[in-house]
Amino acid sequence: MTEISSTSPQLDEIRAGYAFEGPALEFGAAVLDGTAYPDTIVRIPLSAMNRHGLVAGATGTGKTKTLQLMAEQLVEQGVPVFLADIKGDLSGMLTAGEANDRIASRSADVGMAWEPTAYPVEFYALGGQGTGVPVRASVSTFGPTLLAKVLGLNDTQESSLGLVFHYADQKGLWLDTLADLRAVVQFLTSDEGKADLKGLGGLSSATAGVILRELITFADQGADVFFGLPEFDTTDLLRLAPDGRGLVSMLELPRVQDRPQLFSTFLMWLLADLFHDLPEVGDVDKPKLVFFFDEAHLLFNDASKDFLDAIQQTVRLIRSKGVGVFFVTQSPKDVPADVLAQLGNRVQHALRAFTPDDAKALKAAVRTYPNTAYDLEELLTQLGTGEAVITVLSERGAPTPVAWTRMRAPKSLMAPSADALLTRAVAASSLTAKYGSALERESASEMLGQAEVARTEAEKAAALEAENAKVRKAAADAAEKARVAADREAARAAAAAEKARTAQARKPVDEPGVVEAVVTSGAFKSMLRSAGTVLGREITRSVFGTSRRR
Ligand SMILES: Nc1ncnc2c1ncn2[C@@H]1O[C@H](COP(=O)(O)OP(=O)(O)OP(=O)(O)O)[C@@H](O)[C@H]1O
Ligand SMILES: [Mg+2]
Repeated sequence: MTEISSTSPQLDEIRAGYAFEGPALEFGAAVLDGTAYPDTIVRIPLSAMNRHGLVAGATGTGKTKTLQLMAEQLVEQGVPVFLADIKGDLSGMLTAGEANDRIASRSADVGMAWEPTAYPVEFYALGGQGTGVPVRASVSTFGPTLLAKVLGLNDTQESSLGLVFHYADQKGLWLDTLADLRAVVQFLTSDEGKADLKGLGGLSSATAGVILRELITFADQGADVFFGLPEFDTTDLLRLAPDGRGLVSMLELPRVQDRPQLFSTFLMWLLADLFHDLPEVGDVDKPKLVFFFDEAHLLFNDASKDFLDAIQQTVRLIRSKGVGVFFVTQSPKDVPADVLAQLGNRVQHALRAFTPDDAKALKAAVRTYPNTAYDLEELLTQLGTGEAVITVLSERGAPTPVAWTRMRAPKSLMAPSADALLTRAVAASSLTAKYGSALERESASEMLGQAEVARTEAEKAAALEAENAKVRKAAADAAEKARVAADREAARAAAAAEKARTAQARKPVDEPGVVEAVVTSGAFKSMLRSAGTVLGREITRSVFGTSRRR
C-alpha cells in the first residue's frame, strides 16, 4: 500500500470533487507523480450515468476492462447494462475472476478489496451468428436510413430507398426480410409497377435498379439472417436478474467482426428502437439502462449529415428516458463535435502521438478537458495500462476536477468465458424459445409473389383466348373458301362446321380480362386487406426512420 498524503492541494481538490452523497461507481485511485493514493477515490455518481460518456484510448490501453468494471458495479446496484462484445473477451463477466499477483498488487495499490465474482449475463448473437440468442430486426422497423448506411448508399439512393419504404407502408406490404424489400423494388421496376413508380415521384428506375443490385449483393454475403421475424424486442434489455441485480445483455460479435458496418448500425437500431419505445422519465437517480456503444467510430465513418443529426438527436433525447450511452472509440476525434458535446463523462486512456495527425488529435483532446494542474498533453501519452484521465459530471451537473486514475481490476474474468459455459447459458435462457427460430408470415414477397402467380394465370387465359381466336379465324377462312368454291351441299356442310367451331370458341370469350383476373385474385384482396390494417395502425417513422408495428 502506498503512503497516504492529505497535504497536496491537487489531491484535496480531487477528494472534494469526487465526494458524492448518493450511490456511485468507483473507477480507482487518483495518481500524482506516478503514485496512487487510495484515500482519494475517483468515482462517478449513479445519477450521472445517463449524462452519457466517452471511453477512449489507443489499442490495449484498458478500454474493455474499464467497461467491465463499470458494468460490474452497475449490475451490483441493480442497473441493467448493454455491452457489445467485439473480441469475445467481455464474456468473462459470466465467470468469477482468478486471483493472481497482478490483480493482488493492483488491488493493494488502489486500496480496494477484490472478491472474485460472476455476473448474470444474457448472450445475444446477431442473426444467430455465434453463441447467443438470435437478434433480428424486420426490414420495416429497421427503416431506410439505417439500411442505407449498411448498404453504403449515397444520399440520392438513400432518399429513394425511403420512397420504397413509404410505398410499402402505404400498400400494407410487410417488409420482414430482405427478400420482401427486394420483391417490392422488383415490382416497382416491372411493367406492372411502372405506374406506381411514377406515382411515387423522385424514384428513378435507374436508382431502383442500383438499390436492387445492392440488396442482391448484400443478401449474397449472407445478410439475410440478420433481418426477419421474430424481431428482437429491445425492452428485453431492461430486465433484472432473479436476484435483483441488473442483467447484462451482451451482444457477442466475434463471428461478425468482419462486418463492422452491419453491427455498428445494428447497435444504433437497438438504441433508436429503445428511444422509440421508452416513456419520458426526466432525470433519474438510477438509469434504466446503460448502453455501451463499442467501436463507435464505425458508426460515424462516412455517415451523411442527416445520419449524424439523427444520432445526435437520439443521444440527446434518450437521456430523459433514463438511458445512458457510453461511446467507446480509440480517439475523441472519432466522435463528431455535436455528439461529443453531449458526453458529460470522460474516461480517457493513453493516446498515441506517433504522427503529426496524432499530435493534432491529442491537442484537440486536451482542449476538451477542464483546466487542471496536470500537464495533460504529456500525461495522455504516458498513462500506464489500466490508467485513465477522468472527469465526470457531479450530482449537481458540474464537471469534476480532472483526475489521473489507476483503475481498479474487474472482479470477473479478464478473458473469455469457456465456450461450454456460454453454450449452456444460451440453452438455459428463456429467450431461446422466444427468438430461437426464424418465423415466416405473409409479407411482401409472398403477396407480390402471389400477384405474380395470378398474373401468370391471367397470361395463360389470354394465350388460350388468342389461340382460340386463331382457330376461329382459320375456320372462318375455310368456310369462306368453301363457300366460294361451293355447291350447296358443300356450303351447308361448311356452315355447319363453322357453327360448331364458334360454339366451341365461345367459352374463352367470356373469361375475365387480365386486369380483372389480378384484381379478383386472392393475393390482391389480401394486399388490400392488410393495407386496411396497416393504415388503421398508421406507421410513424421516428428520428431514424425506424418504425414500430408490434
Ligand atoms: N483495470 C484494469 N485492471 C487490471 N488490468 C488491466 C486493467 N485495464 C487493463 N488491464 C490490462 O491491460 C490489458 C489490455 O486491456 P484491455 O483489453 O481493456 O484494452 P483495450 O483498450 O480494450 O484494447 P483493444 O483496443 O485492443 O480492445 C488487459 O488484458 C489487462 O491485462
Ligand atoms: Mg478492447
